[in-house]
Amino acid sequence: MNAMTQDNLRSAFGGESMAHMRYRIWGETAKKEGFPTVGRLFMCTSDAEQVHATLHFKAMKDIKGDFSVTSGAGFGLTSTSENLQGAINGETFEFTQMYPAYIAVAEMQKEDSAVRAMKYAIEAEKVHAKLFTKAKEAVDAGKDLEAKVVLLCPVCGYISLTGEEDNCPLCNAKKELFKSY
Ligand code: FE2
Ligand code: FE2
Ligand code: FE2
Repeated sequence: MNAMTQDNLRSAFGGESMAHMRYRIWGETAKKEGFPTVGRLFMCTSDAEQVHATLHFKAMKDIKGDFSVTSGAGFGLTSTSENLQGAINGETFEFTQMYPAYIAVAEMQKEDSAVRAMKYAIEAEKVHAKLFTKAKEAVDAGKDLEAKVVLLCPVCGYISLTGEEDNCPLCNAKKELFKSY
C-alpha cells in the first residue's frame, strides 16, 4: 500500500478510535444529566466509530509494526449541549475535510480497499452529524431526544432512529443485522 494512504488510514483509525472512547464518556454524562436517549445515541455512535476503525484496521491487514499516529480529536468534558456541539464539529470535519481528502488520495493511488473503507465511513458520518444536531436541538429545549428506536448497522455504521428502513440505505445490509440500543 502507498505510504501516504497508509498514513491517512492510520490517522483515520486514530480519529475513529478516539471518537469511540469520547462518545462513551459523553454518553455517560448525558445519562447523568437526565437525557437517556441522547446517552443511547452516544453509545450507538461510539460503536459505529468502532466499526469504522475496524474497517480501516482490516484494510491495513498486511502492514505490521509500530507507528506513531497523529489524529485530530476534540477534548473537553462539558455539558451535554456542548458535548453534542463537539460531536457535530468532529463529524462535520470528517465528512467535509478529512475523508474527502483521504479518499481523493487513495483513489489516485488506486488503493481500492482503503477507498471502500473510507467511503462507508464518510456516508455514515453525515448521518451521525444530522442525528447529533437533532439531539442538540432537543437538549437545548430542555428535552431528551425523541426516538422510536436507536439502531446501528454493524457493517457500515449507519444509525436509524425510526426503524423504517428495509435494508441499510448506505450498504444494503439486512435489517435483521441491526443492533439495538
Ligand atoms: Fe466514523
Ligand atoms: Fe461518526
Ligand atoms: Fe450499513
